[in-house]
Amino acid sequence: MESKVKRIGVLTSGGDAPGMNAAVRAVVRTAASLGIECIGIRRGYTGLISGDMEPMQPKDVIGLTAQGGTMLYTARCPEFMTEAGIKRAADNCRFRGIDGLVAIGGDGTFRGAAELSKHGVSVVGIPATIDNDIACTGYTIGFDTACNTAIECVDKLRDTMRSHERCSIIEVMGHNTGHLALFVGIAAGATAILVPEKKLDYDRDLINRIREARLRGRTSFTIIVAEGAASANEVAQIIHEKTGIETRVTILGHVQRGGSPLVRDRVIASRMGYSAVQILAAGGTNRIVCYNGLKYSDVSIEEAMKMKKGLDEDVYVILDALMYGA
Ligand code: F6P
Repeated sequence: MESKVKRIGVLTSGGDAPGMNAAVRAVVRTAASLGIECIGIRRGYTGLISGDMEPMQPKDVIGLTAQGGTMLYTARCPEFMTEAGIKRAADNCRFRGIDGLVAIGGDGTFRGAAELSKHGVSVVGIPATIDNDIACTGYTIGFDTACNTAIECVDKLRDTMRSHERCSIIEVMGHNTGHLALFVGIAAGATAILVPEKKLDYDRDLINRIREARLRGRTSFTIIVAEGAASANEVAQIIHEKTGIETRVTILGHVQRGGSPLVRDRVIASRMGYSAVQILAAGGTNRIVCYNGLKYSDVSIEEAMKMKKGLDEDVYVILDALMYGA
């Protein structure tokens, strides 16, 4: 079958995520295998607007699966939110003969891609964000590695908190969702997990839990706070005031976005990169590649943007049982 696109661009946009590089590699190599030229665009839509781009050959991506971050750089581009910016980007695509684009990133990246497609450029999105907050897919590239990075830190903090009989309040990323906090909290055996999706009742969700655990003889505590749920410093102050327990706050921050991607992220990124190019080659546009634990598929960007992703309630409710008697 002859490819419907001759030259495609690839970019990474929004917050970087471990595994983005593996996706770029898969796009470049799959394109080459189908006889499609590939252009690497730097700094996301910023590079598309300014024309900062260069052809990429299969040899340019040697060893990339193991590297964290993104070799194409990334940015959030306010100019691309304007009609003039989108038009400039589309004109650049036409000028460079780019008839397809693979956009690797999160929600904002896909909204931009959908706008660009209205100007005649075929687009396919690959979900990559440590937040795992894209509704059309069960998994976004980078989530597993970020969870593991966070857990490594939480395990270390637990050692020192246990020694000093303190309460450790650890803030994790997640933008305005609690997927990362929930997974890290469950994996860490946290006393409480605060997520934006659940209205916070300090006494019920935090203080009573700590008091009950204390009565059972526990002397150190781990509280995971999603950045969108509450201020970690405020949480620490309230715990100290109401229980008298010494508290310490750790904000994990951008360390969660770094590091060499784990196997899961490398494999899913490779598979998604492959699929994205196949979709463009077959004449598809306006699609997002998805993975729902068992199989890969794709949905239209418009449809995807209307979907809402809730927290994994099953995981959230087991927290009480897992703390029982401890
Ligand atoms: O979307 C990924 C993410 O790391 C969020 O978890 C966080 O809220 C945000 O990006 C931070 O953005 P920046 O790197 O621009 O500070």
